[in-house]
Amino acid sequence: MYKTHTCGELRIEDVGKEVSLAGWVNRRRDHGGVTFVDLRDRFGLAQIVTNPEISPAAHQSLAPVRMEWVIQITGVVRQRPAGMENPDLPTGEVEVEVNDVKILNTAQTPPFLINKEEDVDEQTRLEFRYLDLRRERMRNNLILRHRFIKFIRDYLDERGFLEIETPILFKSTPEGARDYLVPSRVHPGQFYALPQSPQQLKQMLMVGGVERYFQIARCFRDEDQRGDRQPEFTQLDLEMSFVHREDIMELIEDMYTKLVAEVVPHKKVLQTPWPRMTYNEAMARYGKDNPDIRFGLELQDITDLVAESDFKVFSSVIAKGGCVQGINARGLGNYSRKQIDELVEFVKRQDAKGLAYIAFTSNGEERSSFSKFLAKETKQAILEQMDAQAGDLLLFVADKVDVVYSALGLLREELGTRLELRDDDVMGFAWVIDFPLFTWDADSKRWDPSHHLFTSPMLEDIPYLDTDPAKARGQQYDLVLNGNEVSGGSIRIHDSDLQEKIFGLIGLDPDVARERFGHMLRAFTFGTPPHGGIASGIDRFCMLLADEPNIREVIAFPKNQSARDVMGDAPSRVEQKQLKELHIKLDLDEDLPESF
Ligand code: AMO
Ligand code: AMP
Repeated sequence: MYKTHTCGELRIEDVGKEVSLAGWVNRRRDHGGVTFVDLRDRFGLAQIVTNPEISPAAHQSLAPVRMEWVIQITGVVRQRPAGMENPDLPTGEVEVEVNDVKILNTAQTPPFLINKEEDVDEQTRLEFRYLDLRRERMRNNLILRHRFIKFIRDYLDERGFLEIETPILFKSTPEGARDYLVPSRVHPGQFYALPQSPQQLKQMLMVGGVERYFQIARCFRDEDQRGDRQPEFTQLDLEMSFVHREDIMELIEDMYTKLVAEVVPHKKVLQTPWPRMTYNEAMARYGKDNPDIRFGLELQDITDLVAESDFKVFSSVIAKGGCVQGINARGLGNYSRKQIDELVEFVKRQDAKGLAYIAFTSNGEERSSFSKFLAKETKQAILEQMDAQAGDLLLFVADKVDVVYSALGLLREELGTRLELRDDDVMGFAWVIDFPLFTWDADSKRWDPSHHLFTSPMLEDIPYLDTDPAKARGQQYDLVLNGNEVSGGSIRIHDSDLQEKIFGLIGLDPDVARERFGHMLRAFTFGTPPHGGIASGIDRFCMLLADEPNIREVIAFPKNQSARDVMGDAPSRVEQKQLKELHIKLDLDEDLPESF
């Protein structure tokens, strides 16, 4: 080893010891002939000192050293002189009086400061990710992610789970996104698909008698990028045999409650046991199926109260089968016309046609865009239902129910931000259950699975598959944390007849079904145990635990918003020769050079 101690390790007890340290020059200062360097490694910072009078050779060697040079030093630990201690550093009581310096490497001036958390353009951070990783923020995030995964591994190992790797080169395992395809050289015209999740393979493991499986699994989905999505991301993927959905939910609840206590002890779980709500309840209360339950501002349905009112905006929407719902933005009653107009524009961006309001200033004065059209009793009933008080701002959207939900669901979050109702240190876990098994795809006129093809219907709802598929609920459960879907899972179909029936309902031609999923249908005929599982988005989870605004911050080498790796510059062109071997001809508007 180049070092006897790490840079974060030295304490007052080490005074008098001869030590070797190695790391990067975080900062250097020259004071009255003496040179001070903060030497940094992954574990912390140590102050080293050279004095020309005591050790002229070492002092001389340190002279050319600049930021981010890599050096090794040997010296003696001593207590810092009184008044020179740094209480912000764990090593702040001591320093190392250097008697030997070796320069291990020089460094160009980095494109941004490593030793300071300053705002750096993300493109530059990603291009020089290896430098960004030296900074405290990224280092802490990598450590948190490591602890998260280590906790899971230990927890599941203690409970008899086996960690099993499944192939990356496989067949399309659809989760609703586009596949990444890999052409086969050996089999012209044929492709592997990178798994969108190990879903089929983990079910095969259950047929294989594994009973308790997990994997820290890489998944690949070609979909539009957002702050909480990456084209390749990591799941804790888990599957169990002989379980009901209750068993999976209990296991996950216990595991993550303990994980929060151990990995982020400064955070508190909002409520235990975690609240559970049906999909319909989540939509009705929050307008979305991944609600942030850390604050109220729940939706209120006033359709019945205003169906007959003279305010045509409301009554005509209701007459056409729509609804009217509102939110009491408590405390915003003094909003100016301009501020209210901003909220109107906000919901219009979500396809709502407008936002009607009743505002009460703190001294009870009323302003409204529509209340003059309401009968006195109707208005009273609305105010009562919404518990309106002086200082409140009541906001309403009239539209088809899905537009109302999406507009008010997002408006609620916007209001949560404006009213500063979220506490980052509170973990608002909630289960959402009883999703509809299918949603109707009006464009292609067929049923789409809400989760995936392999989710079992609730047993009592199986008859609806023949009579009214819209009514069938799936044995699905989503885990939501602070407004983000962090996990999703279900009890699976383990019967090939039922599985074939579902394929039929979603309009999958039997031949196509057999070609794509024949291996599963066949496996299910060989004594498949009842089974179910779940997968958690590790990147998303860590983003929330680290209080980061997007998942790129918890991934060592993420893709940017347009799915590029800007450090390695991928994707990139390949040689014609390689394409030929893969039997691929490009169909592009531009001519490519033969070789580059
Ligand atoms: P699902 O598709 O819900 O379920 O994925 C599980 C969890 O993975 C995370 N996730 C993502 N994270 C980052 N980037 C993405 N592009 C991305 N897509 C999904 C989410 C999500 O909750 N096979 C099923 C699980 C099962 O049924 O057991 C599955 O993959 O946090
Ligand atoms: P208008 O009659 O279009 O001038 O609208 C009167 C008020 O009702 C304005 O405050 C609009 O923002 C609001 N409004 C219009 N359409 C809707 C709607 N679909 N839902 C809620 N409010 C609306």
